[in-house]
Amino acid sequence: MTVPTIPLNTGGSLPQIGLGTARVTDQDEARRIVLEALEVGYRHIDTAAKYDNEVGVGRGIAESGLPRNHVFVTTKLRGSQQGADTRTALRQSLDRLGLDHVDLYLVHWPLPRIDRFVESWKIMEELRDEGLTRAIGVSNFLPEHLDRLAAESSTVPAVNQIELHPREPQQAQRDDDARRGIVTESWSPLAKGDLLAEPVLADIGRQYGKSPAQVVLRWHVQQGLVVIPKASHVDRLRANLDVFEFALADGDLARIATLATGKRVNDEQDPRTWEEF
Ligand SMILES: NC(=O)c1ccc[n+]([C@@H]2O[C@H](COP(=O)([O-])OP(=O)(O)OC[C@H]3O[C@@H](n4cnc5c(N)ncnc54)[C@H](OP(=O)(O)O)[C@@H]3O)[C@@H](O)[C@H]2O)c1
Repeated sequence: MTVPTIPLNTGGSLPQIGLGTARVTDQDEARRIVLEALEVGYRHIDTAAKYDNEVGVGRGIAESGLPRNHVFVTTKLRGSQQGADTRTALRQSLDRLGLDHVDLYLVHWPLPRIDRFVESWKIMEELRDEGLTRAIGVSNFLPEHLDRLAAESSTVPAVNQIELHPREPQQAQRDDDARRGIVTESWSPLAKGDLLAEPVLADIGRQYGKSPAQVVLRWHVQQGLVVIPKASHVDRLRANLDVFEFALADGDLARIATLATGKRVNDEQDPRTWEEF
């Protein structure tokens, strides 16, 4: 299975589907899932210091035997290390992963109350120049946070990773990212699985011989989004990659659009106020 790649404003690119690893805190479980994902064709892994699984993720990558430049690895700066600790934070992530660089390093949340993301960003620019990460980006950033980076630094983020799924399609933020040359990545692309019981998805899936999860993932990739579903079982890992050989008709996209209630997986996760350290 070959997954298409999406170009980044760095001149590099990233595979359009990656593996999400949030809430997999057992290191051996993380190792197994990452290894199985790489075996079935994933070449893009999303982790974070906050997920407490970088050791297992790194072991899975090592065990796969794949050359380092065949796997795109993203990790994220946790809130408690924003500011002067940013350099230490990436070095610690690299130690846990057993890697000498990552492909993408993200500010996990803007945390405007502590107001350290610009300071972190300037250190991340240095870390990129030193080769410890190939690209730098952000997560959960709103236009007001992106405006601050534009005014106070010379690097446009490569990626903005945001909650995005048919219930919360984030059209305004996607348009804003696109205007700035930022790739939008969908986190909780299946709304943590909660979305999959919607009867309309099963109904659409029946027409194409696809599951509700595959319909939703096709909805993401058909719109040019990068998507990082998390799955624990090899059959789901494989199925979640198998979305490139069918296309949703306009009428089906319109039916999926009826799911857009604006409901998020966690109502409290507003980037203006959410504090996750
Ligand atoms: N930047 C951020 O702030 C942020 C926040 C949240 C998440 N993320 C990233 O985004 C990734 C994905 O989000 P997520 O883990 O919250 O949720 P998700 O990918 O939307 O959904 C994962 C859930 O869907 C289930 N699932 C996966 N494939 C399925 C299939 N084919 N059929 C039925 N069920 C299926 C999984 O079950 P099993 O695991 O049991 O297979 C799991 O319970 C995370 O893992 C993380 O890497 C980033």
